[in-house]
Amino acid sequence: MIKRSVALLLGMGLFLGCASKTKGQEEIEQSPEPTSQDITVEEDSVEESLEVLYNKLAAGDFTMEWMTDNEYLHVKLSAPTTGWVALGIAPSSMMKDADFIMGYVKGGEVYVSDEYGNSATSHTPDTDLGGKDNILDKAGSEADGVTRISFKIPLNSGDSYDKILEPGGTYKVIFAYGSSDDFTSYHKKKTSAEIEAL
Ligand code: HEM
Repeated sequence: MIKRSVALLLGMGLFLGCASKTKGQEEIEQSPEPTSQDITVEEDSVEESLEVLYNKLAAGDFTMEWMTDNEYLHVKLSAPTTGWVALGIAPSSMMKDADFIMGYVKGGEVYVSDEYGNSATSHTPDTDLGGKDNILDKAGSEADGVTRISFKIPLNSGDSYDKILEPGGTYKVIFAYGSSDDFTSYHKKKTSAEIEAL
């Protein structure tokens, strides 16, 4: 009788021991703790994705891609022209008060100018008004009848002829292109759109 009880207890102990080990293994498999290596990999991936994360807006013939970081609005703009292409940010009416960035490519060189909408139907360089050309990283190309320019502008340049831009904000934008390589000729095409989250 005593022998049988000891055997029974030993058997139960073995059974319980096996059961708790199995339960422990299952718990580990079902909810693995992230290791420090896993976390590092995830952070790297996020940073890599941010570098290529441009928003895209197609408005008629115009394509604008943009992203913001803490300091700058980065833009890539293209239109089917061998002349100038331009973006105007936040006009008050028609072209007035818009912050214009105009660019063209001529002889393999890119020309980009920081302009201001000084009336409903005209613009002039910020530098002629006492402001500055605050456009950085000016680049561009012209191929197959399409002109592409890229640049970055400060979210707050401190120039009264530029806009203060809030990431995530909603902005009216206007686009235009002309067929000449200059900053003064009239547009061939123009359109307007709204950016819902800058
Ligand atoms: C290069 C010199 C430019 C000249 C001489 C010029 C001239 C004019 C004139 C006379 C108008 C009124 C007539 C019309 O609707 O065509 C106008 C309208 C307009 N322009 Fe310009 N423009 C110039 C550049 C630009 C640029 C760079 C943009 C945009 C990035 C632009 C965007 C517009 C838009 C969107 C309208 C229509 C506004 C509305 O009807 O509400 N223009 N422009």
